[in-house]
Amino acid sequence: MDTVARRPKKGEEVEVAVETIDRRGRALGEAEGHPIALTRGIPGDLVRARVTKRRRAELQGVPLEVLEHGPDHVDARCAHAVSCGGCRFQDLAYEAQLELLRGHISQALEGAFVPLSEVDPVIGCPEPWNYRNKMELSFGAIRWVEEDEPEGVDRDFALGFHAPGRFDRVLDVGECHLLFEGGMELVTSARALAKELQLTAWNQHTHEGCLRHLVLRRGVHTDETLAYVVTSRNGEDVEEFLARFSELHPELTTLVHGVNPGVADVATAEERQVIKGPGWITERLLGVEFRISPESFFQTNTLQAERLFEVVLEEAAAEGAGLVHDLYCGAGSISLLLARSVDRVTGFELSREAVADAEANALRNQITNADFVAGDLAETIAGVTECPDVLVCDPPRSGMHEKVVERVIELGPSRIVHVSCNAHTAARDLARLVHHGYDLVRARPVDLFPHTPHVECVFTLERSSL
Ligand SMILES: C[S@@+](CC[C@H](N)C(=O)[O-])C[C@H]1O[C@@H](n2cnc3c(N)ncnc32)[C@H](O)[C@@H]1O
Repeated sequence: MDTVARRPKKGEEVEVAVETIDRRGRALGEAEGHPIALTRGIPGDLVRARVTKRRRAELQGVPLEVLEHGPDHVDARCAHAVSCGGCRFQDLAYEAQLELLRGHISQALEGAFVPLSEVDPVIGCPEPWNYRNKMELSFGAIRWVEEDEPEGVDRDFALGFHAPGRFDRVLDVGECHLLFEGGMELVTSARALAKELQLTAWNQHTHEGCLRHLVLRRGVHTDETLAYVVTSRNGEDVEEFLARFSELHPELTTLVHGVNPGVADVATAEERQVIKGPGWITERLLGVEFRISPESFFQTNTLQAERLFEVVLEEAAAEGAGLVHDLYCGAGSISLLLARSVDRVTGFELSREAVADAEANALRNQITNADFVAGDLAETIAGVTECPDVLVCDPPRSGMHEKVVERVIELGPSRIVHVSCNAHTAARDLARLVHHGYDLVRARPVDLFPHTPHVECVFTLERSSL
């Protein structure tokens, strides 16, 4: 007679054979015959782990030691790989990352009963390091001390990223291999200067401290660099910091200062002052020029965004079309690229600031056949009466609002190109479109975020019945 294996208890140490990684980046395997999810690990790893939670469906745990590496293991490049968690897949060979991501998209479609014979191979990033053109760093008054750090490190000042799951603790980063080349010099020097001038870092508990965020942005095609320093207050010491920082870094084409006295931990400011340069940088995507302000949305991987938009343009196959709608258009990147080959494009976007950027970007590129509608699409879509020849949508991670999907079905464009960075919510939205007469004909993923569980995918739908 089979006996059911005893379920390990919380705190117990177990051996785990990791089988796969789920879409949230958790390593899934078995411990003594019971499913377990670990915070780290790659397929094929044999790991000694501690059980931290006993959920009904699975155990949860943290790895303590890798006893045997899986076949696709590579050494992580970054000293902070474990504590930071920003690059969850750093120790997995890049080709294996791409296969894993493709599997996640297939699973999402299968889970939502969306038929498709095959997801295309993921278009990988030719240079999967230093690809981020934007990085938002936090100053923190409570430093997250890493296991192997020497005694006596400064515990009340850090500049880096929040430790996973810790809103109040900041990991002081000395290296980051995702940040654009030259970005780390700016981080190191901002830290040294702040310490020299004895400026304090923001404390998430007491809401005291001066320095809050450092945002860096880079125009890869234009060689322009922006630094945005957010503090909780103004003052002579802050002015000195900004002046010296600007002097030390002639490569900064613009420096902006923002003051955010509020409690919310966001790199935004009520008041912004331009210290140097125009207050924004420019970047080009497939020959169209975009203005990027300190707080505006822009794809974080310029070169791969170009690959993504090439795929969108191919799938839209809109050359010569009359009208195209671009839902969730941000600052208009897809709209403006499409406008070059169709009669008219209308972009829809919630953020008024992004719409203002989109309009400015249209003017900048002498594009006169694109217009933009600001507002929540759940409401603005009701005002759309003309059916577009092609409809493109690129919703946020949460996917499309039900009302938007409903209205798209009523309008009935013959072709829909759905761009998504979350295959799970995309599959939910696609399932409704498929249920109402559309066929999913292709899924073409593009990796914009190497070493992370996120992936963009372009899904193409054609109307199969009228
Ligand atoms: C993934 S971004 C798309 C950006 C754009 N396609 C690009 O590549 O630059 C999603 C956009 O949807 C917008 N958004 C979020 N919720 C919205 C809503 N309810 N109505 C309209 N736009 C919304 C966000 O402001 C954001 O700009």
